[in-house]
Amino acid sequence: MRTQVAIIGAGPAGLLLGQLLHREGIDAVILERRSADYVLGRIRAGVLESGTVDLIARAGCDQRLRQEGLPHDGVNLCFGGARHRIDLAGLTGGKQVTVYGQTEVTRDLMEARSAGGARTVYEAAGVHLEGFGGSRPVVHFLKGGIAQTLECDFIAGCDGFHGVCRQSVPERAIETFERVYPFGWLGLLADVPPVNEELIYVNHEDGFALCSMRSMTRSRYYLQCPADEKVEHWSDQRFWEALRARLDPEAAAALTTGPALEKSVARLRSFVAEPLRFGRLFLAGDAAHIVPPTGAKGLNLAASDIRYLSEALVEYFNGGSTAGLDAYSTKALARIWKAERFSWWMTSMLHRFPEVGRFGHKIQLAELEYLVSSEAASASLAENYVGLPY
Ligand code: APR
Ligand code: PHB
Repeated sequence: MRTQVAIIGAGPAGLLLGQLLHREGIDAVILERRSADYVLGRIRAGVLESGTVDLIARAGCDQRLRQEGLPHDGVNLCFGGARHRIDLAGLTGGKQVTVYGQTEVTRDLMEARSAGGARTVYEAAGVHLEGFGGSRPVVHFLKGGIAQTLECDFIAGCDGFHGVCRQSVPERAIETFERVYPFGWLGLLADVPPVNEELIYVNHEDGFALCSMRSMTRSRYYLQCPADEKVEHWSDQRFWEALRARLDPEAAAALTTGPALEKSVARLRSFVAEPLRFGRLFLAGDAAHIVPPTGAKGLNLAASDIRYLSEALVEYFNGGSTAGLDAYSTKALARIWKAERFSWWMTSMLHRFPEVGRFGHKIQLAELEYLVSSEAASASLAENYVGLPY
C-alpha cells in the first residue's frame, strides 16, 4: 500500500486530520489498533471551544453538532457552599463553548470518512514505524495476522498517550515534562436531566466535583477520588450521596439521580513531549501531550494541533513549501503550554491536595473569592476557557 500521509490512530486527532486532508484531495490511510466500536465505546470529555467547532465545520462534519450541541455562555464555580457564575460570553466579546460529546464528534468523523471512501484499517496490530528520519517512511502492521506495509511521505502520530509513535523516537531526540497528580476523577454517566443548565465546578472539603452534561436528558458527573480508587467500591447510591454533599443547597435539592450507564476512574496527569517533529514523523493530540481534564482542554488541544498540521501538509502538497511543516512543532507547543498552564491552574485551585493542609485550602478559597469578585481575574479565566487564539 502507498499513501501520502499514514495516520496512526483513529481518535479525534487522527480522524479530523484524515477528513481535512481528504477535503483537500490529499490521500491518507488511518491505521487503528482497536475496532471502530471499541473506539466509540470510550466515554470522554464534552466541551468544545469555538475554534474546535470551526475546524469540525471545515472538515464538513458539523451538521449534527450544530443541531444537537448545546451552546453555553457561562460556567459556575461553587465554593464555601455558594455558587458564582462566570459570564464567559460577556467577558470575551460574545464567545461561547459548545457541549457535545467527544464520542459524538468521533462518530460524525467516522461516518464522513467511510461515506467519502477514505481508507481506514481497524484492528491493525503491531504497528511499527521505519525510515521517518529519511525520505521514505514505511509503516509495518498486521491485519488479520497477515503482514502489510504502508509506504508514505509523512507519518502523523495521532495514537494517544500509550501509542507507538512517540515511543519510536530515539530517547536522546525527545524531552518530556510530566506531573502526575495524587488523585483521580470518578465519572458517572446517567440518563437524568442535568442539575443545572451550565457546568458547575466545585471546590469542597471532601474534594472536587464537576456537574456536566451531554444533553438536556443525559448528565455527566465527576468526583475527586484517590488515584488508585476501585470503581467497584462505588455503588450508584454512594456516588449520588457524595456528589450531593459537595453541591450548594440549591443544586443539592435539584439533583436528579438514576442508574449509571457508565462509571470509571481516570488518573490526572500533565505531560508534554518536545519537539513534535522527527524528520517525517509528526506527533499530535494525546500522543504529544496530556492535560488534566479540569480545564476541558484535551480534545481542544488535539484539534489545534491538527489545525496547524493539516494546514502545513496542505501547503506542502499543494504548493511545495515546507515552511508550515518546519514551524509546526514550535507553533503547536506555544499553544500547548498555555493550555497546560491553564489546566494545571484550574486543577490546583479546585482539588483537595492533602499535602498542603489547611493553609493551602485557605489560599484556594482566597483565590476563588478574588476570581469571582475581580473582572480582570474572571476575564482571564473566561478567555482561557473559551480558548486562546490560534
Ligand atoms: N497502533 C494503532 N493505533 C493505536 C496504537 C497503535 N500502536 N496505539 C494507540 N492507538 C489508537 C488508540 O486505540 C486510539 O483510538 O490511537 C487512538 C488515539 O486516540 P485518543 O486516545 O482519543 O487520542 P487523540 O485522538 O489525540 O484525542 C485526544 O481524546 O484522549 C482524549 O482527552 C483526550 O480529549 C482528548 C482527545
Ligand atoms: C465532561 O463533560 O466530560 C467534562 C466537562 C468539563 C470538564 C471535563 C469533563 O472540564
